[in-house]
Amino acid sequence: MSDKQPVLELRNVDKSFGPIDVLHEISLKVGEGEVLCLLGDNGAGKSTLIKTLAGVHQPTNGEIFMDGELTTFSSPREAQERGIATVHQFGGTYPLMSVGHNFFMGMEPTKGFWPFKVYDREKANRIAVEEVQKMGITRITDGDRLVGGLSGGERQSLAIARAVYFGARVLILDEPTAALGVKQAAHVLRIVNEAKKRGLAVIFITHQVMHAMAVGDHFAVLIRGAIAADFRKGDKTREEIADLMAGGESMADLEANIEGYMETHEGHVPPPAH
Ligand SMILES: Nc1ncnc2c1ncn2[C@@H]1O[C@H](COP(=O)(O)OP(=O)(O)O)[C@@H](O)[C@H]1O
Ligand SMILES: [Mg+2]
Repeated sequence: MSDKQPVLELRNVDKSFGPIDVLHEISLKVGEGEVLCLLGDNGAGKSTLIKTLAGVHQPTNGEIFMDGELTTFSSPREAQERGIATVHQFGGTYPLMSVGHNFFMGMEPTKGFWPFKVYDREKANRIAVEEVQKMGITRITDGDRLVGGLSGGERQSLAIARAVYFGARVLILDEPTAALGVKQAAHVLRIVNEAKKRGLAVIFITHQVMHAMAVGDHFAVLIRGAIAADFRKGDKTREEIADLMAGGESMADLEANIEGYMETHEGHVPPPAH
């Protein structure tokens, strides 16, 4: 995708809340049919970054481009209308509503004419089940089923299928697999691959390296609000990525120490510690 125009691009984005600087000079891009994995420990700024992409926050500095065009999202609704769909850990679904209702959520098909217009339950259910099945979730066969009875993975899948159906171009998943068991997580990862195949640009946030490696084309590691590493699939092993995430903080300190030493010692590296 590298020579194609990215769907979404951030250039030097900073985000502060009053005196608290949370994001520093974030530059990232994601293209059609590409999965960008955003890795980072708790508190690294991952959620703040995606909220900035989804119109919840506005960047303090820097620019966001969509299809090469400088863009601002002044509200989550505006971001949504431009095709940015965010799916949170529990899929954002309503447990006491049916699969059909959850799929359409305010966009339900109707039948008949005013003043006799009513919710077309059959049609809603049929489309919802079809779309979810197309994404490979064959266990959902009844659109009347309450979402509360679905597994965590199935709920996520429903939310992703809905985003795809309603024409999302960028799918942002904030730790979708964090609370899931192995099988359920595999479920969601399969759906992420499916969304990618359909040409969505996916931003997948996780601190589970294995999950990232199963779907990622491109990886960025966020440490204390800055991109500490940015690499493509195959560039690093699982161990290297894990070290980077786990030891990233101390590695950054170490590097700063070494640089500082070199500056004051005519370019010599520090002697090994004992
Ligand atoms: N609205 C806010 N006001 C002040 N600080 C915030 C706000 N939102 C997030 N932060 C701070 O930004 C840092 C990163 O948080 P967050 O983006 O939630 O990290 P992550 O999702 O990687 O765990 C934390 O130190 C958090 O306290
Ligand atoms: Mg978070």
